[in-house]
Amino acid sequence: MVVINEKLLNCLKNSNDYISGEKLGEMLGVSRSAIWKEIQNLRRAGYDIEAVTNKGYKINNVGDIINSIELNTGKLIGSNIICFDEVDSTNEECKKLGMYGEKEGTVVIADNQSTGKGRLGRTWDSEKGKGVYMSILLKPDISPSKLSCITLCAGLAVCESLKNDFNIKAGIKWPNDIVVNNKKICGILTEMSGQMRKVDFVVVGIGINVNNKNFNDDVKCKASSMFLCTDKRFKRSYVAKSVLNHFDKIYKIFTTEGFLAIKDDYEKNCINIGKHVCVINKYENFEAVAIEVDKNGELVVMRRDGSKTSVFSGEVSIRGVY
Ligand code: BTN
Repeated sequence: MVVINEKLLNCLKNSNDYISGEKLGEMLGVSRSAIWKEIQNLRRAGYDIEAVTNKGYKINNVGDIINSIELNTGKLIGSNIICFDEVDSTNEECKKLGMYGEKEGTVVIADNQSTGKGRLGRTWDSEKGKGVYMSILLKPDISPSKLSCITLCAGLAVCESLKNDFNIKAGIKWPNDIVVNNKKICGILTEMSGQMRKVDFVVVGIGINVNNKNFNDDVKCKASSMFLCTDKRFKRSYVAKSVLNHFDKIYKIFTTEGFLAIKDDYEKNCINIGKHVCVINKYENFEAVAIEVDKNGELVVMRRDGSKTSVFSGEVSIRGVY
């Protein structure tokens, strides 16, 4: 792993013109040759730095660089970022950190997942360098019955990020698929370690298809990406940081005021509300209309006979949407 000199990086980022090695040395209190070595390190870390004789150094557009400096939010969520080139699953890495007592808000992010995990025992297609694959470690003081609210908070964070920061018209398919034009662009997998009454820690895994173009045969017809929706490429670091910032805001509201404080925003973005849905779970399959999301994050549906049922988990499909 390359150690990045953050001060030097900031000096370069804050300057519109070339800065000489001598001036950088003065600013950082080190020799010109030390600056040269640090510049090599920055290049190794992926930064494009020009060096021109008699002028000095200049950083060109920062590319799609995933590291703790580019992603640090300085907030509870995302102040400690751990980056990997490849892991089996960021959720698995994050769970290990949770067991070792790593602090709340820590984020594990990887360029590639060899066995990315999806919900209901499925796999998550994680093409190297194309998507955002990250997991957030949380230690909320809540009962396990409120766990699904955290997934809903994460879904809302991704949806708001895509809409507000990237101009993508996303919606949430309850509980946690982010959908654009009826196709899935992001999935969320929440896992918990704890006892019946107490949560020790929670890992929220977020997979966003950013610049992906190809998908496995089994998800091809129902998956999309930010690139496929807009014909534009996005920097994964911007996407990840934006989602972390939105999640920080929403998670704070949830932990201080409870899910009811977020319910309206969630429902406004949830594409199921007011629609005919088909509920498929372990016990039964039935058709109903989705009415609202309750304080525990369950989907309240009305059956044909007018009776209401809360759907806790399982699959919900909407006509016209996968
Ligand atoms: C789903 O099935 O919709 C949930 C997909 C969750 C995928 C993400 S990618 C980052 C994190 N690590 C994993 O192994 N899975 C989640």
